[in-house]
Amino acid sequence: MSVTILSVETSCDETAAAVLVDGINVKANIISSQVDVHRKFGGVVPEVASRKHLELINHVIREALDEAGIDFNSLDAVAVTYGPGLVGALLVGVAAAKAIAFGLDIPLIGVNHLEGHVSANFLIEPEPAFPIICLVVSGGHTDLVLISGFGQYELLGATRDDAAGEAFDKVARVLGLGYPGGPLIDELSASGDDTAVSLPRSYLAEGSLDFSFSGLKTAVINYLHRAEQKGLPANKADVAASFRRAAVDVLVDKTLLAARQHQTDTIMLAGGVAANRLLRQEMVFRAARESKQVLYPPPLLCTDNAAMIGCTAYHKYLRGDFAPLTLNAIPNLPLGLDRY
Ligand code: KG4
Ligand code: ZN
Repeated sequence: MSVTILSVETSCDETAAAVLVDGINVKANIISSQVDVHRKFGGVVPEVASRKHLELINHVIREALDEAGIDFNSLDAVAVTYGPGLVGALLVGVAAAKAIAFGLDIPLIGVNHLEGHVSANFLIEPEPAFPIICLVVSGGHTDLVLISGFGQYELLGATRDDAAGEAFDKVARVLGLGYPGGPLIDELSASGDDTAVSLPRSYLAEGSLDFSFSGLKTAVINYLHRAEQKGLPANKADVAASFRRAAVDVLVDKTLLAARQHQTDTIMLAGGVAANRLLRQEMVFRAARESKQVLYPPPLLCTDNAAMIGCTAYHKYLRGDFAPLTLNAIPNLPLGLDRY
């Protein structure tokens, strides 16, 4: 018998709902982005995000059911992101999912947003060969994770300051490119020379799987200030390309180091920054030299969406891992540790 799950995601600035059958068959994947609302502030304003989620959530859920061609009575479970993320934003999705679970008397499944990002890969490869090293790179996280099976995670390293996506967004802002900066830097870099500006790469202690991006970000800011003081306008495409190259070099080097340390043949990319074209290209190229395989989701499944939450939820459904109706939003929920 097949399993139909409605999943909801409201952890940041996308209001999203999806319907998946058996965790792989995506019947609907609706994403209503608030990017235009937040753009004028240069970043996500938490209070505004919560209000927007409230306005949109019922419409987005209705649209997902309509597109899937089902009604509420066809659902076997409802899943929702309950952390990490913005507390007010998470609460909107959690409240909606709890109401549906209570009203229909079906199981409620609480999903970790980061586990969702990782699981986007299982939508393209449902039976990967474990163990896997996964680089989770988003606006809030830069994590290296050892995955030994569905739902089994060990955090190997994380950023000590800025997340990779945060660094992309901040550098885009100082370059005057707009928000969100990652895709804009990626685009502009294509016409720049990535050797034009010499920028630092931070590796921390030898063998460390932790990251640090604040030095790189500061180096870009200092370079732009010096250029301005000299009255010589910096070539934005060259700066963007040099920054992207420096960030990607460190991300690829450390991911391959982790794969060597843990003798894994498969590498996965996850999170919004996994949509970066140079990161995908370099990871595949460098991993192939060590006979390692690289998986990554299509760009739409790298950034926030509810299909990835539905895929994670399906594996929890199979394990009977359900949340109580007292489920709360947990803004700093760590990967691999459910707190119902
Ligand atoms: O996973 P995500 O959608 O939301 C979070 O969970 O944070 O990631 C958003 C981040 C933003 O910082 C955005 O600038 C970055 O992912 N991003 C990119 C690209 N597309 C999105 N960064 C670099 N290159 C891209 N193509
Ligand atoms: Zn995310």
